[in-house]
Amino acid sequence: MVTKPLVIVTRKLPDAIETRMRELFDARLNVDDKPMSPAELAEALKVADVLVPTLTDRLDSRLLAQAGEKLKLIANFGTGVDHIDVESARSRGVIVTNTPGVLTEDTADMTMALILSVPRRITEGLDSLRAGEWGGWSPTGLLGRRIYGKRLGIIGMGRIGQAVARRARAFGLQIHYHNRHKVSAPVEETLEATYWESLDQMLARMDIISVNCPHTPATFHLLSARRLQLLQPHAYVVNTARGEIIDENALTRMLINGKIAGAGLDVFEHEPAVNPKLLNLKNVLLLPHMGSATIEGRVDMGEKVIINIKTFVDGHTPPDRVIPSML
Ligand code: DGY
Repeated sequence: MVTKPLVIVTRKLPDAIETRMRELFDARLNVDDKPMSPAELAEALKVADVLVPTLTDRLDSRLLAQAGEKLKLIANFGTGVDHIDVESARSRGVIVTNTPGVLTEDTADMTMALILSVPRRITEGLDSLRAGEWGGWSPTGLLGRRIYGKRLGIIGMGRIGQAVARRARAFGLQIHYHNRHKVSAPVEETLEATYWESLDQMLARMDIISVNCPHTPATFHLLSARRLQLLQPHAYVVNTARGEIIDENALTRMLINGKIAGAGLDVFEHEPAVNPKLLNLKNVLLLPHMGSATIEGRVDMGEKVIINIKTFVDGHTPPDRVIPSML
């Protein structure tokens, strides 16, 4: 590869990252942060040595088929790679990397914020204050549900799931989890976590569910209409992973009909669209995909992208290579 590869970045990144990219690479930046159209993405794929996309760029097999000979690396700015057809990229000899690890604590904080806020009706309290409706303290006003002692069922016990579990334990929640594999015995012991091989069985027994697994073909609508019906009426659902993991229409129906107690959603099935029926519900807290949105986190992500590109350009395997068979 040429010494200064043409690196095309699809969105505006933190200044410090863009400056470093300009120093190291022939970097083509998107300072206006206007998302690229599919035609613009196709053009970028044709000419770039390295593409730095984000989750807002859909790189499907049709688009990847238009990539030029020079394209050898897609260094994703983000951990989730469900917007990239990694197998198609691999078959064209293009390596895909991501930015794992650096979003873990921030995403777990946001998950915990939702776990606390929805059962304790924090937005309802805020709304009543802002609307000038608060008439003073009352013994029965805005009663929520206690967090301490409840059962939290974590779906996906990877880095983020474990970081959620560590926090949740400190709040007195009992940790349960469903994962493709049991985590190691020391991790399970430290978290005092109970493994459920059967997701159905776990769902039926939990007070709060937190979705923390990646979106893959195997986890699309993992929380299907059928599975959501297994939840108890007092259960809450929190999702800071990917909207596609939950059947959003089915969840909305359950919330409207009082079949579950509430939901905290940072992600949606058709982002940036949100099911309009969700917007008016009192028992939901909706956030615009901001689980990892910290200044520190975004800089760390950018540094990881740079390390992946630099390592690759220097002739080595980049540290955060995504292997399709591991998805
Ligand atoms: C990711 O990196 O996949 C996150 O969802 C970004 O917030």
